[in-house]
Amino acid sequence: VVLVVDFGAQYAQLIARRVREARVYSEIVPSTMPVAEMLAKNPKAIILSGGPSSVYAEGAPRLDRAIFEAGVPVFGMCYGFQLMATTLGGTVDNTGAREYGRTPLHVSRAGSTLFEGTPTEQSVWMSHGDACSAAPEGFSVTASTDVVPVAAFENDEKKLYGVQYHPEVLHSTHGQQILEHFLYRGAGIEPSWTTGNVIEEQVAAIRAQVGDKRAICGLSGGVDSAVAAALVQKAIGSQLTCVYVDHGLMRKGETEQVEKDFVAATGANLVVVDAQERFLDALAGVSDPETKRKIIGREFIRVFEQAQLEILQEEGPEVAFLVQGTLYPDIVESGGGTGTANIKSHHNVGGLPDDIEFQLVEPLRQLFKDEVRMVGQELGLPEEIVQRQPFPGPGLGIRIVGEVTKERLDLLREADAIAREELTAAGLDREIWQCPVVLLADVRSVGVQGDGRTYGHPIVLRPVSSEDAMTADWSRLPYEVLAKISTRITNEVADVNRVVLDVTSKPPGTIEWE
Ligand code: XMP
Repeated sequence: VVLVVDFGAQYAQLIARRVREARVYSEIVPSTMPVAEMLAKNPKAIILSGGPSSVYAEGAPRLDRAIFEAGVPVFGMCYGFQLMATTLGGTVDNTGAREYGRTPLHVSRAGSTLFEGTPTEQSVWMSHGDACSAAPEGFSVTASTDVVPVAAFENDEKKLYGVQYHPEVLHSTHGQQILEHFLYRGAGIEPSWTTGNVIEEQVAAIRAQVGDKRAICGLSGGVDSAVAAALVQKAIGSQLTCVYVDHGLMRKGETEQVEKDFVAATGANLVVVDAQERFLDALAGVSDPETKRKIIGREFIRVFEQAQLEILQEEGPEVAFLVQGTLYPDIVESGGGTGTANIKSHHNVGGLPDDIEFQLVEPLRQLFKDEVRMVGQELGLPEEIVQRQPFPGPGLGIRIVGEVTKERLDLLREADAIAREELTAAGLDREIWQCPVVLLADVRSVGVQGDGRTYGHPIVLRPVSSEDAMTADWSRLPYEVLAKISTRITNEVADVNRVVLDVTSKPPGTIEWE
């Protein structure tokens, strides 16, 4: 394993993904973890991420010097670079030499471990206020910028490397290559990690965990639960029963898709529970987003417990396991493993009630989304499921700003179906990460339609591009496509007289409105 030490910003996840793209398994650990504990994991290499602090700020995260003396190769990036510099006796000053964004990098030792085979002039992504003016003893400086004399250094003997910039972002043109040079050349790691290994490993782990008991799996219609279910199906076959809860918060046609496509692809046992009324009753009068999420998470589990009882009555041995498609970013965002703030309680992690009766089987909890898709593909799931854009567990319940009612859901379903249809027709499905369609149910505005004045609701389009949902930018959709969606929604959906476009990146906005 390669450990990525998280210094508190959102960079660590991206770094961990890039390491895996280099076919090396990686995990994120918080910078507050004692170094002895990190070393006890026997890492083949350690990467220190960027972070928001200045190394000289009071309370700035530090690391025990032992991390650099254990013989484990270490690569510091941005904050990690500065920390390495100051800890080992180099100089980092607050000289006012700040650099943000795309910056030209001058490589001064083209044959160095990190930079070999890359151009002597390259574009890198910088984001720093302090700057390193002298490398620690024993290190050679391998690159600089117009502003910063020491933008990269290395000590081959001790296997310590650092760059001031962010090689993990795509704007750093040779970033991935440099990361791979560290992993393969610096740390001598063989690239061997693949999603194929994950399938084998997980199948064995699931068999060991479940034994001859039974498991049930909630299918949401999304990629994650479908891949989790297919993986468990592969491991334990008919011991698995899939349960699809129709909570009435799904989009148009989704229930049918699960019933038809998924079953055809996997041959899994599927039980469909119609719980629409139950969810609507539980959500009645509730507008607060976190409360909605908690209610939906709770009801979901309750419905499963009921389904479990029914399956038990029919099938004998105890249903003891619940399969969930929890992903690595869910774990990290819910504060599991990084000490980062709980941004939202994702309903498959934080929203679980305390009295849960199942043991969880979470075969995807180490994986990023793109890896889940690869696993799904290898398991033979159809393209429509594997390439599906993400859709939140709480469904349209968190895309109605205000109380959730049957009428509002029907209205939003229509608007959403139109937007999806037009985006697909325009060939934009791969370009956008997802496009939440949101109903501002408590907002009304004046309009004019036909001969009369209307007083209807706005629909928000939130198309975003993203690599991992941790950060996102709003998608610059062609005006003609936006115009078509807007015209169709206002013409075809009663009570909607306005369509607006969300032009906020994440951060500061989250992708979903609630
Ligand atoms: P946010 O809104 O936090 O969303 O920027 C990031 C990604 O997560 C999805 N999402 C959820 N998925 N349960 C899920 O399974 C949830 O409660 C949930 N909330 C948000 C969202 O659609 C986006 O892809």
